[in-house]
Amino acid sequence: MNSREKKFASTIYARKNKISLTINGQLYKLEIGEEAGKVDPSDTLSFTLRETLGLTGTKESCDSGACGACTVLMDGKAVLSCMQLTVECDGKSIVTIEGLRDPRTGELDKLQQSFIDHTAFQCGFCTPGMIMSAKSLLDENPSPTEEEVKMALSGNFCRCISHYQVIEAVMDAAKKGR
Ligand code: FES
Ligand code: FES
Repeated sequence: MNSREKKFASTIYARKNKISLTINGQLYKLEIGEEAGKVDPSDTLSFTLRETLGLTGTKESCDSGACGACTVLMDGKAVLSCMQLTVECDGKSIVTIEGLRDPRTGELDKLQQSFIDHTAFQCGFCTPGMIMSAKSLLDENPSPTEEEVKMALSGNFCRCISHYQVIEAVMDAAKKGR
């Protein structure tokens, strides 16, 4: 998001003083302002998740919508959190990589486990975004073809070239049923 767009949003939301977000099932009421701990109208969702709320599982790389590292689910759909202003997400339900494991048992989501089983990563930086994009796909289409998996992950870049293992991991998770 460029500085002009951020400035525009700042003027629109300058008069609002609070927003609510449900993140991984927990309700957050966040004040809008420039002080530490508040949400500046120009803050992106990825910034708020990582820097304000400490949910650092969501990664930020390009900060311009080009790599997919920052992918989270918003109301069930995969979105690039670096391209969303937090103030515009008021009332939304967000799921990050931290929200995938079972909160009671700690058991990993089948996709997370499948990435481990297939060693579908090297440095792991792109992995949360890959998993969240795959999660959105399998929620909508539990039995995708390999082509559909490739298409769903086409916006997620892996600089370690783990794409082959990622596709295997997603196909295997789909086969096992989620
Ligand atoms: S950090 Fe959001 S798309 Fe790259
Ligand atoms: S595992 Fe390193 S960028 Fe994908």
